[in-house]
Amino acid sequence: MMKRILLFMAIVMAIFSSQDVARAASVDEAGKMLVVYYSYTGNCRQIVESLTAQVEADVMEIEPAEKGLHYEANNYALGTQLLNAINAAPNDAASYPAIDPVPITDLSGYDNIIIVTPLWWSQMAAIMQTYLFHYGPQMAGKHVGLIVSSHSSGISQVVADAKRLVPSAVWMGDALWIKASNHANRAALIQNWIASLDFAAGATAAVDQLYITIGGVTQQATLVDNAATRELVTRLQEAPVTVTLNSSGGFEIWGPLGFALPTSNEQVNAQPGDIVLYNGSNICLFYGSNSWSYTRLGHIDGLTESQLRTFLKAGESNISVTLSITAPAAGIKGDVNGDGEVSIGDVSALIDVLLGGHTDTAMADVNDDGEVSIGDITKLIDILLNGESA
Ligand SMILES: Cc1cc2nc3c(=O)[nH]c(=O)nc-3n(C[C@H](O)[C@H](O)[C@H](O)COP(=O)(O)O)c2cc1C
Repeated sequence: MMKRILLFMAIVMAIFSSQDVARAASVDEAGKMLVVYYSYTGNCRQIVESLTAQVEADVMEIEPAEKGLHYEANNYALGTQLLNAINAAPNDAASYPAIDPVPITDLSGYDNIIIVTPLWWSQMAAIMQTYLFHYGPQMAGKHVGLIVSSHSSGISQVVADAKRLVPSAVWMGDALWIKASNHANRAALIQNWIASLDFAAGATAAVDQLYITIGGVTQQATLVDNAATRELVTRLQEAPVTVTLNSSGGFEIWGPLGFALPTSNEQVNAQPGDIVLYNGSNICLFYGSNSWSYTRLGHIDGLTESQLRTFLKAGESNISVTLSITAPAAGIKGDVNGDGEVSIGDVSALIDVLLGGHTDTAMADVNDDGEVSIGDITKLIDILLNGESA
C-alpha cells in the first residue's frame, strides 16, 4: 500500500514539475512583460531605466492623486501616517492613499510583471500598496518579480506586503534589494537577478496570420509585428470582425474598423496586397499603389495584382470584409451569394459569376470541377430540387 502511495506521489510530482519546466523561460524567451513602479525621489525610476535597458517590457508609473506632498517632512510624518492607516485596516480600500487612474487597467495580456517600489519605514511605499491593493488580484497565476529600493533597511516586510497584496502570484525568484550603497551598481545587480528568474514563456505563440474573407472567398495575409497588429490580434481572438469597405482612388478598398488601434504612422509607399491602418481606425486593402502616412498592418499573401482586384472587388462599394485569425469554416457549397443558405437567389448570383460580374468562385464552383461553368448551374439546380449539398 505504502509503495502505491509513494508511486502515486512520484507521478503527481513528475507531472507538476514537468509543467513547471514547460512554462518557465529565460528572459530571452519570456512572454509579454510589464514593469510597474512608483518613485518618490527618483531612485526607483533609475532602477527601472536600468531594468528596461536589459528587458523588453511595457512600463507603467504609479502616481499619487495628491501632488506636491512631502512624505519625508517632519521626520517622515506623512509617510508614516499613510502606512499606519493601511496597517490599521489593510482590507479596507479607504485605508489606501488615492492614486491617479492607471493607463493599463487590463493585465490579462501580460505573462510577467516586475514591481519596483521604494521602502518606507521598512514597509512597501503606501502609493504602490494602493496600486497592488486594486490590481494585485489580476496578477494571479502570473510570474511576478519584486525590486525594492531602500536607503539601508532590509526588505523582508516589503516582501510580506507584496505577498499580502498579490496573494496568488507565481513569485519568479527572490526579491532584489537595491540599497543606497548599491544603487550605482544597479545595472549589474539587475543583470544577475534577471538571469536567476523563472519567467513565464508567452502564453500563446505570436499570431502573424490574418484571414480575409470577402463574398465567401478567404485569402491569407501575413501581419507585421507592431502594437497595432498585436491589438488587432487580441480583438480577433475574441471574435472575427466584419467591416464594410469601399473602393477608392483606383488603388484600394478602405473603411472604418469600428475601433482605433495604436498608430506608428510613417510615409508608406503601399503596394498591391498591402494592408495598412489609416488615421488610426480605418483599414485599407490595396490592389494598386499609393504613398501616404499609414501604419503597416500586413500583406495579402500570394495574389497577383489582377487576382487582388478580383478578390477585393475593385471598383465596388459596400464590400463586406471579414477579418479573422482562424480560417473560417468552409461555406455551404452552392451558397453563391453568401447569405447562409442555398436558394433560388444563388442561381442568379451564379449567372452573375458566369457573366463575370462577381468573383465568388469558391462557392460558385458548385460541382467542384475547378472552374465556374454552365455545369455548376445544373449542379446548383440539382441541390435546390433534391436538397443535396456537396
Ligand atoms: C516616507 C519615507 C520613509 C522611508 N523609510 C526608510 C526606512 O525605513 N529605511 C530606509 O532604509 N530607507 C527609507 N526611506 C528611503 C527610501 O527607501 C529610499 O530613499 C528609496 O531609494 C527611495 O526610492 P525613490 O527615490 O524611488 O522614491 C524612506 C523614504 C521615505 C520617503
